[in-house]
Amino acid sequence: MRLKMSVFPPVSLNISLVSLGCCDVGDTGLVLTSQETSFSHSHSPTEMRGAAVSLTAAASGFVVLLLTVPVVRGYNGWGVTYTSTKICALKGSTVEMNCTYRFPSRINSVSTKVEETFWFTKASNNIYADLRTDPDYSDRVEYRCKNNDCTLRITDLRESDSAEYKFRFITNQPGGSFTGSPGVTLSVTGLQVQLSSPGVRTYDRSAELMCRSNCRLPDHTSYIWYKNQKEILRRKLNSLNNFELRNHYSCAVQGHEDFPSSSLLVQGQVNWGVTYAPAQICAFRGSTVEMNCTYRFPSRINSVSTKVEETFWFTKLQDKEPVDLRTDSEYAGRLAYSRGKNNDCTLRITDLRASDSAEYKFRFKTNLPGGSFTGSPGVTLSVTDPQLQVRVRRSTVNPYSTWTELTCHSNCQPSHHLSYTWYKNENSVEGGEEKYFHLHTSGPGDKYHCAIGGDVPVRSPPVYAPEFPAVSVSPSGEIVEGSPVTLNCSSNASPAANYTWYKEDANPGLPSLQKSLSFGSIKSSDSGRYYCRAENELGWMSAPTVIVVKYAPKLLSMSATPSGEIVEGSSVNLTCSSDANPAANYTWYKGNQTLLQGPEGFYHFTSISSEDRGFYRCKAENQFGQINSSSLLVDVQYAPKLVSVSASPSGEIMEGSSVNLTCSSDANPAANYTWYKGNQTLLQGPEGFYHFTSISSEDRGFYRCKAENQFGQINSSSLLVDVEYAPRLVSVSASPSGDIVEGSSVNLTCSSDANPAANYTWYKGGGDSPQASGQTFAITGIRAELGGNYYCEARNRRGRRNNTLHLNVVADFPEAWKSAVIGTITVVVLAIILLSAFLLIKEKITSKQSSEPVQRIVYSEKCLHSQSEEQDDPDYTNIHFLKNQTDPVCSNIGLAGPCRRDEEEDDDSVEYTVVKFNSSAPRARSQEIQEDPATLYSTIKTSF
Ligand SMILES: *[C@@H]1O[C@H](CO)[C@@H](O)[C@H](O)[C@H]1NC(C)=O
Ligand SMILES: *[C@@H]1O[C@H](CO)[C@@H](O)[C@H](O)[C@H]1NC(C)=O
Ligand SMILES: *[C@@H]1O[C@H](CO)[C@@H](O)[C@H](O)[C@H]1NC(C)=O
Ligand SMILES: *[C@@H]1O[C@H](CO)[C@@H](O)[C@H](O)[C@H]1NC(C)=O
Repeated sequence: MRLKMSVFPPVSLNISLVSLGCCDVGDTGLVLTSQETSFSHSHSPTEMRGAAVSLTAAASGFVVLLLTVPVVRGYNGWGVTYTSTKICALKGSTVEMNCTYRFPSRINSVSTKVEETFWFTKASNNIYADLRTDPDYSDRVEYRCKNNDCTLRITDLRESDSAEYKFRFITNQPGGSFTGSPGVTLSVTGLQVQLSSPGVRTYDRSAELMCRSNCRLPDHTSYIWYKNQKEILRRKLNSLNNFELRNHYSCAVQGHEDFPSSSLLVQGQVNWGVTYAPAQICAFRGSTVEMNCTYRFPSRINSVSTKVEETFWFTKLQDKEPVDLRTDSEYAGRLAYSRGKNNDCTLRITDLRASDSAEYKFRFKTNLPGGSFTGSPGVTLSVTDPQLQVRVRRSTVNPYSTWTELTCHSNCQPSHHLSYTWYKNENSVEGGEEKYFHLHTSGPGDKYHCAIGGDVPVRSPPVYAPEFPAVSVSPSGEIVEGSPVTLNCSSNASPAANYTWYKEDANPGLPSLQKSLSFGSIKSSDSGRYYCRAENELGWMSAPTVIVVKYAPKLLSMSATPSGEIVEGSSVNLTCSSDANPAANYTWYKGNQTLLQGPEGFYHFTSISSEDRGFYRCKAENQFGQINSSSLLVDVQYAPKLVSVSASPSGEIMEGSSVNLTCSSDANPAANYTWYKGNQTLLQGPEGFYHFTSISSEDRGFYRCKAENQFGQINSSSLLVDVEYAPRLVSVSASPSGDIVEGSSVNLTCSSDANPAANYTWYKGGGDSPQASGQTFAITGIRAELGGNYYCEARNRRGRRNNTLHLNVVADFPEAWKSAVIGTITVVVLAIILLSAFLLIKEKITSKQSSEPVQRIVYSEKCLHSQSEEQDDPDYTNIHFLKNQTDPVCSNIGLAGPCRRDEEEDDDSVEYTVVKFNSSAPRARSQEIQEDPATLYSTIKTSF
């Protein structure tokens, strides 16, 4: 602040002293102007630190310990002892306050431990404001404690630091807290330049300027004097006697140059003057103010004693003349002047109005010519509304002392003491009569305000913790992924709330400390519950909001339950799940076939069948999009079914060809196959094939297979594998066998091994034209020209083969007869030979009584061979010679051995009766013995 003196009226002997603060001004004769001195210091930060150090070093010199007797305060073993209880210190210096404290070492066998120590100046309701947390002291305080000694150090002292400082400690004992009271009273004061002795005359060179402070500084303090902000002198004395008028003077203490006094402008040297105290007044509208002053004048000038004739106050000039307030209608009825004996003067204005704000000056007139004087500058009055305001400050010293300090603040601080009242929810609070009010806790909804009494009570607006915050989301309505979204939070609170946003389960919290939380492009992961916390010094309240971001399905997954093997007939659930908002609709597919559509992501098989096997997938969709799952194979396992056996090539199978039998079945897992021919096991293995590289007729038969897996087995039906082959073992026979008599009949029969059964065709000689077909060729009415070779050709679709039979035809009579003659001759010759032999033997027997058997008949046989090599059995044509003899003739066929028979001596005649052809081989082999003893048996090879 800059105060400037204007001299009025322009007389040579003006006296006026205007100064800041609490200057004890005597009746001096110098006109001085005080100015806040602002030296330009260009300290770098390092220099500032250096300055601080030097201040600390100098502190002892400028801190005056007014009472240095240790005072012990305490009881029952508790106590705090301050090294000094009254300290006066210079503005800008550093002060240290020391104390030692004590306490019972043990209470109820619990040993005492100090948990907290701190210093404070303000306390109410047992709430103590730790200096460290007080913004007024910000970084200027420091605690140092060692054992039971504690020091409070305050640097850069300000006049506002003037207070009583107390030390408090808190122990673990119940109720074990102690405050050293009374504490240390600190008064901080600045330097002031004052005129030395009163009554000095104009230009009295004996006048001095004094560098003074409210603290009594040590005698050997060094002072520095500045003239127009330039240092002119350093000396151990606090006075300056060589000063010039119309110059600015200020002083400082050495080592403490940063805090000089305000400067004085020495303008004249008069003992006229008006002193206003205070020089500035703030008052509330409607209230009453009193302005006080004292005035002085020389009691006698030129032997004429001075008498004051008129005094009045004014604010305005009219025609350069001051206008007495009493003549101003604005103040009618609201003014009162009073004058005391000691040249006191008082102006009292009631029912103040804002328009009363002005500079009020006091003027007095004396009986001296031109002896009028106005104290200028005057008192500055500002009339305002109190504009009471509760300031809130929260401090947490430790868990034991958390408090909120309410201060009833007004921009206008009236000079007189104000009485405060604190209200909680419109009820006045007991003990709340100070400017400060300390709160432990504030409940929700609690409102506090302060008021000042007086003519017109004035109240502050209330303060309160934040109300439940209102949260709004913009845009309102659906929140679609990718769109910008802003959450807004607001809460009524006084003081205004700070806002913090939290997201549930989010760690760490959101960085936003704003009223609004903005998403440039919101993601689905931003969905969740958000809390807006509104907080002020009185408490906090938080409100939740749920943000649901709408988005297309994502993270689609599909699964089957049970997972793993699925056996036919079991219950199976397919599940499709996706992340979507709103919830997705699901469509189920098997391959390309749509199965089901609906909001539930399930597809259920009560009893799954093998036909349900296949690839399944699902699609999830909502209005924002869709997504397809990958395919899932539902592999239903089941026992073999639908077993079938087939041959390849199908149809006719020819011997020697390559044949594959295939057994197939429907089974999961794939079946193992066993092959059977009839009931003989052929092969076992995982492949359903049975292979013939070159099939033979013996492979013909019924084949079947069995398919099995762990779930069961099944047998196929039997498959006939019919191997075809060309005819073989072709045989031809005649019946009757042997020579065929002309005119008789004969049956030629052909047989063969063939598959399929052969057709037979008969040919004669080398002829090409078939004589007959069929297995039997019946020839009747044989004639000689029908004799010869007959071919039988056996044929099927696989081939053909033939065989030959020679048919011998003999004449009916002449031929037979010729044979009979030859036979008869032979027989006769044989008979003679036999007879001669018989006679000879009889003679011998007679003489010797013994004789040897004689082979009389020689049988010859001839085999008629078939043209077929396979024809093992030769065709025999047996000729039976029938004889009327009683002696049977033994006939042996195919045997070399003689056939024995008893021959009668007298039987000399042989008769041939029957010639038989027998075509039956076995029969031809058999030995037939005629029962008729007269029949002669003979076997002749029918070779002609
Ligand atoms: C085939 O099995 C049946 C019945 O078990 C049996 O009677 C028959 O003799 C068997 N045949 C062969 C060639 O083993
Ligand atoms: C030939 O066969 C037919 C029919 O089987 C039969 O009637 C006939 O007597 C046979 N002829 C001869 C000479 O065996
Ligand atoms: C066998 O004879 C039947 C009837 O006479 C005829 O249909 C068939 O084609 C013949 N088969 C062969 C292989 O000649
Ligand atoms: C009978 O078969 C033989 C050899 O198998 C053949 O040479 C002959 O020509 C055949 N005869 C007829 C009449 O087919």
